[in-house]
Amino acid sequence: MVSTKTLIAASLLGAFIATGCAVSSTYTEEELGLRKTDLYTEKTTVGETTSYSTVAAGESKVIQRAFENAPPMIPHDVEGMLPITRENNSCTGCHMPEVAEAVKATPMPKSHFFDMRTQKALTHMSEARYNCSACHAPQSANEPLVVNEFKPDYRKENGASRSNLIDTLNEGVK
Ligand code: HEC
Ligand code: HEC
Repeated sequence: MVSTKTLIAASLLGAFIATGCAVSSTYTEEELGLRKTDLYTEKTTVGETTSYSTVAAGESKVIQRAFENAPPMIPHDVEGMLPITRENNSCTGCHMPEVAEAVKATPMPKSHFFDMRTQKALTHMSEARYNCSACHAPQSANEPLVVNEFKPDYRKENGASRSNLIDTLNEGVK
């Protein structure tokens, strides 16, 4: 039988070795972080420039949805369209369902014509959806610092290119 004392001594020794190892493989504060420059000064640090699509609406290729019912990213140039103001929302000019087909744009989904508070369908676009760029963003072509290994599961075959949130919104809610 191993005595309790021996056990305690052994585990203490183990702990010492473990901490010893940890100490020998520490990072200096300057090495922490994803950027490779000093964390204490911005002098040598230059942010990577963003590079948004310059392909005109109508000629761009849609981007696969990040996950089922994720708000799709804007694949086309938005030059002159942002910011959206009270007087001017060009997005609706192409994405309202009644015009979308004619300009080959994806029509806004049913969820954008629905009042989430009262849970009622509306005959007009919900005001809560007016500021499209609060949820839909253009994507900048930069190399990610950390590779994203997330693999989405789409329950519908066209889930990577179409949404159906209005049908699944209350799933699991009783
Ligand atoms: C001149 C018409 C036009 C305007 C204005 C426009 N779009 Fe588009 N949009 C399109 C077309 C057409 C597509 C499909 C891709 C293509 O052909 O370039 C598209 C694609 C998209 C997509 C991707 C849809 C998908 O199925 O993945 C989003 C999101 C989007 N637009 C949002 C916006 C937002 C937000 C604005 C306003 C800032 C806007 N669009 C303004 C025509 C337009
Ligand atoms: C509050 C966030 C939010 C706002 C604001 C918003 N959207 Fe969306 N949008 C979403 C989400 C989330 C989805 C995907 C799930 C769904 O609702 O079907 C979506 C889906 C879409 C789609 C894809 C439809 C399909 O069948 O796949 C288009 C096109 C779109 N939105 C356009 C717009 C435009 C244009 C505006 C502004 C007039 C806008 N959205 C405002 C969150 C938003």
